[in-house]
Amino acid sequence: MGTEKDTRINYSDNLSDIKPIIIRSCTLEDLEAVIEVNEKELPEDYPYFFYKSILDNYPESFLVACNDIGKIIGYIMWRVERTPAISSLKLVNKGHLVSIAVFKDYRRLGVATALMSNSMKNLRKYKIDEFVLEVRVSNYTAINLYEKFNYATHSIKEKYYRDGESAYFMTLKP
Ligand code: ACO
Ligand code: ZN
Repeated sequence: MGTEKDTRINYSDNLSDIKPIIIRSCTLEDLEAVIEVNEKELPEDYPYFFYKSILDNYPESFLVACNDIGKIIGYIMWRVERTPAISSLKLVNKGHLVSIAVFKDYRRLGVATALMSNSMKNLRKYKIDEFVLEVRVSNYTAINLYEKFNYATHSIKEKYYRDGESAYFMTLKP
């Protein structure tokens, strides 16, 4: 079911057949499917209660993308942290991108772009001063996505991931 808050992306896989992808808020019933996308598309796995606590605490910026038959094909989730600013000791609200992923078959259609722009817009309700995220230094696709939104690399977190890969710490002031 749709609401006026949903966003629709129309795409075609064979020119005659236009199909919609809907971007909407995540619900409790969606979590299993969100976890499935995460497990297929990202090496970082989290336990169910981790997703649940993010949904409980920051529901405005937890969004899913669904295909024409309602199957979840992508998601984005953020948490909000009150920590010192990137370049001062002042405490600020940071929107921290926890995770974004889109199933391979639905990539390059603008789904991640819509998930990013809608969730960043919704995060304004939490009065965000800075957006932050970590991304694998080898993940050009995601880095391109973040640069498209004007995120800049602030620093490198050496050996940030369990397999030893480093992360770019990217930030954006809205
Ligand atoms: N090569 C280069 N750049 C790409 C590619 C690609 N294959 N795919 C997307 N991009 C970049 C481009 O800049 C693109 O903008 P453009 O189409 O205007 O050129 C931009 O990303 C947005 O493209 P979308 O179609 O909106 O992105 P998509 O829906 O395909 O999803 C995503 C991008 C989420 C990174 C997807 O590739 C994915 O799920 N990857 C695996 C999971 C992942 O790496 N997630 C990020 C981890 S970091 C974190 O979560 C904090
Ligand atoms: Zn992080």
